[in-house]
Amino acid sequence: MIPGKDFLTLLDFSADEILYLIDLSIRFKHNKVDAKRLIGIHNKAAALIFEKPSTRTRISLEVACHQLGLSPLYIETKTTQLARGEPLEDFARVLDRYVDIIAARVYSHKTLEILARYARAPVINALSDMYHPLQALADFMTIKEKFGDLSEIKIAFIGDTDNNVAHSLTIGAVKLGLEIRLVGPREYWPKKEFLDVVNKVAERTEAKIVITDNPAEGLRDANVIYTDVWVSMGQEEERKKRLKVFRPYQVNFDLVKTASQDFIFMHCLPRHRGEEVSDDLFESKHSVVFDQAENRLHTAKAVFAAILLEEKL
Ligand code: CP
Ligand code: NVA
Repeated sequence: MIPGKDFLTLLDFSADEILYLIDLSIRFKHNKVDAKRLIGIHNKAAALIFEKPSTRTRISLEVACHQLGLSPLYIETKTTQLARGEPLEDFARVLDRYVDIIAARVYSHKTLEILARYARAPVINALSDMYHPLQALADFMTIKEKFGDLSEIKIAFIGDTDNNVAHSLTIGAVKLGLEIRLVGPREYWPKKEFLDVVNKVAERTEAKIVITDNPAEGLRDANVIYTDVWVSMGQEEERKKRLKVFRPYQVNFDLVKTASQDFIFMHCLPRHRGEEVSDDLFESKHSVVFDQAENRLHTAKAVFAAILLEEKL
């Protein structure tokens, strides 16, 4: 369905394509994909390029490669000639001569766009400052597993509503026509350019986006409460200010009083202990964070297979 396509942001995919990838991920999870159909990708090579640290993304992508019969190459940019000034455009064209697919975790989303422009091999976003689409796919897969039908689900993202994880969750929600609430301090609300784009999609799909700085209002009847760190990678200098501004938005049992009784708690991880979520809520029966982390593996397999195989699985 998406052979040869770059996977930089969910904005480039239709609701049908996103639902297909979720369904394929669920089939991979339950061993419902015929291994013979994967022969076409055996012995291909995947470059996994990292400018920043990673636990889940790196490991899930590597294991996904092994399980699919692809050869993963884990490459930290600081060990390449990029660190000594090799132009990114040249790096992309050289890489292209060796590998069949590229996944990259970068500081600036622009870097991914340049990689995608200069490499013929498809490029997967393994997190940029703007988006984290592999994460969002695992998030919607997890929501689907927990609730079955997605259509009536109300999702509340609370905290830094202008970060990569919040952006991709919002894009996924509007593409799928769901209700999403973005709850956090005004000065960290998403920028107008981003809101213009997602509002336009929402008009078409009848999705609903609510933005508020009031947690009681934002979390009212929410089925999914999602948070992420207050200080993302690359924002370390703002740490002191951010910790102060976001403090009233910590997810704890006091804050979630207005949510639906059976809400699930989600977090892309890693968490910062004592900050965006209290330990008791994180460890409670509401928390599905480790299922969500597991699903990163199944979605990674689905994305590799859907891009590398000519035929729909
Ligand atoms: N959620 C996620 O992307 O985690 P890592 O930073 O560990 O890859
Ligand atoms: N927003 C976080 C996500 C980490 C997976 C960051 O960019 O650091």
